[in-house]
Amino acid sequence: MLNTTNNNLKFIDFCAGIGGGRIGLENSGMQCVGFSEINKDAEKTYRLFFGEKEKNHGDLMQINPKNLPDFDLMIAGFPCQTFSVIGQRKGMCDKRGQIIFGLVKIMKAKNLKYFILENVKGLLNHDNGQSLKVILDTLDKAGYKVFWKLISSLHYGVPQMRERIYFVGIRKDLIKDDKDFEFPEVVETPELKNYLIDDGKLELSEKKRTYETFLKYLDNKYNKNKFTINKLLKEDFLIIDTRQSDLRLYRGRVPTLRVGRHGILYIRDGKFKKLSGYESLLLQGFPKKLSNKAKNKIQNTHLLGQAGNAMTVNVVEAFGKNLINFLNKK
Ligand SMILES: C[S@@+](CC[C@H](N)C(=O)[O-])C[C@H]1O[C@@H](n2cnc3c(N)ncnc32)[C@H](O)[C@@H]1O
Repeated sequence: MLNTTNNNLKFIDFCAGIGGGRIGLENSGMQCVGFSEINKDAEKTYRLFFGEKEKNHGDLMQINPKNLPDFDLMIAGFPCQTFSVIGQRKGMCDKRGQIIFGLVKIMKAKNLKYFILENVKGLLNHDNGQSLKVILDTLDKAGYKVFWKLISSLHYGVPQMRERIYFVGIRKDLIKDDKDFEFPEVVETPELKNYLIDDGKLELSEKKRTYETFLKYLDNKYNKNKFTINKLLKEDFLIIDTRQSDLRLYRGRVPTLRVGRHGILYIRDGKFKKLSGYESLLLQGFPKKLSNKAKNKIQNTHLLGQAGNAMTVNVVEAFGKNLINFLNKK
């Protein structure tokens, strides 16, 4: 039997990635008692952050729940490529779309009290809303009252536009019918320039091929005559997102960081810079101390991808705190 109060809830970090969700929940006062992750590179960064001792329970579809320690809450940003607007939208038919059923199996076996799940916005209208409906029905049948909302990280303490669906589940016997979980209140967006602080050499040097490619890109049929290099270079902290064809500019915020989109540039001190893995971690709310550790040990391209996959720390922290407050009010 677990002997926890609402103020020291124990959780397991499923689909852990590099632990954005974990840091958020730890910041809210909860304690992590294990994780599950199948990607070796993500595990390397995770261990750099949290140490070598903890057990990785591995593929969650293969876990025997009896081998898991007792825990109160599950956190999982379950794989989203299948639902993502950019992914191929295979949804529930794809193997990765089945992860939710693996998670539910563990919830049931452990008679779990609470969960926080996260997925991409594309899930909302995937298969005309059928995939979301199946997920909500499955969680309902498993015995949970589920509250969900599409929110943007931009409103929870980082200057990144990142829309994600968050699900909070409370076992039905632990919540009165007339009570609803209250989603965290929005907070002011902090200043972007405080996140664009990498001192590494990621300038687009005029000699490098990437710079030439960028110049060609500015001159393609979509962008020709729209932008002049000198004008762009005058605006410090202007964000330049190089999409497949067109170029988009952002001020005071960055677009969603994603795996595979390594093309975000910005202007600093009159020069083009590439957004680095370190800066991407900061834009996902990872603390400077951990981000610095990663910067010195993990390849920049890996960090860019891993940060793009992560949950925003601040968002999960806000959810964790609200859940604890809600449980204490009951
Ligand atoms: C969207 S990312 C979540 C990242 C994480 N929430 C974070 O904050 O960094 C999904 C993660 O699930 C992992 N994953 C996919 N299938 C899995 C499985 N069967 N068991 C455990 N982890 C899995 C992937 O390797 C990936 O790192």
